[in-house]
Amino acid sequence: MINNFDISDKVCVITGGTGVLGGTIAEYLLNNNAKVVILGSNKIRLDQKLNILSKINADVLGFVCDVLDKNRVEIVCQNIINKYGKVDVLLNAAGGNMPGATIAEDQTIFDLKLDDFKKVSDLNLNGTLIPSLVFGKAMADKGTGCIVNYSSMAVFKTITRVVGYSASKAAVTNLTQWMATEFALKYGGGIRVNAIAPGFFIGNQNRRLLINEDGSYTERGQKVIANTPMKRFGKAEELNGVIHWLISDTASFVTGVNVPIDGGFNIFSGV
Ligand SMILES: NC(=O)c1ccc[n+]([C@@H]2O[C@H](COP(=O)([O-])OP(=O)(O)OC[C@H]3O[C@@H](n4cnc5c(N)ncnc54)[C@H](O)[C@@H]3O)[C@@H](O)[C@H]2O)c1
Repeated sequence: MINNFDISDKVCVITGGTGVLGGTIAEYLLNNNAKVVILGSNKIRLDQKLNILSKINADVLGFVCDVLDKNRVEIVCQNIINKYGKVDVLLNAAGGNMPGATIAEDQTIFDLKLDDFKKVSDLNLNGTLIPSLVFGKAMADKGTGCIVNYSSMAVFKTITRVVGYSASKAAVTNLTQWMATEFALKYGGGIRVNAIAPGFFIGNQNRRLLINEDGSYTERGQKVIANTPMKRFGKAEELNGVIHWLISDTASFVTGVNVPIDGGFNIFSGV
């Protein structure tokens, strides 16, 4: 019997592969015999991550690559095609927030730093668009492929303070739907574009916002837990199953969705 969940030998490119969520799915995919290519903006972190990943499975490559540098992304894509002859999966995990694009407790929207708002918008939106165009073209050339974008719970619910992050992740969700439609209409159903919307997972960027040095929750962390029916933060590994499903042939009729992975945060009224 054919196992439609089989992802072995799929060539999976992960932007932000040196980060917490990108690095976790890289390990999972290698353990499931996929060929993994991680892109990272920092050479030292890239080498450290490659060292860990290559112990799981030797089928791993890494490239220093700024996702906003289209020329560099194209060179990296060509290198991957030269090595494997194809790209099957793109996970757009590079992204995040910047302090200046956030409204502090004692500030209002009028204190927003426009330059930082632009930077965070650029990273999340264009940092998803550019790899999708470059690797999406390689997928279009062979007629099959799958893109998974990293959206956010901040798209469904208004989360105070993180205005630039929220607006740009909403744009990522819209881009997901738009590209899903475009690929299906013009290249057939072989190329699918979906997104995941993680709730609160402790990462490098939000750790200090949610957890104090002594391990207790900050006031904001307590509010998140109060509004999460499962009463805990997510673990990075808890994204693996949904991503596996989305990139496997079992999801062959699924495109343009944004899957919440949030312990119920999105559906809870708080009452
Ligand atoms: N952690 C969470 O709770 C959470 C929730 C929802 C969505 N997300 C999203 O998931 C993704 C991964 O988050 P994470 O928690 O692993 O964050 P992380 O900071 O650990 O990883 C993000 C990665 O993106 C890379 N990056 C940043 N700018 C880049 C650039 N210009 N070019 C290439 N790489 C660049 C960073 O080097 C880092 O490795 C992000 O898009 C984030 O917004 C995270």
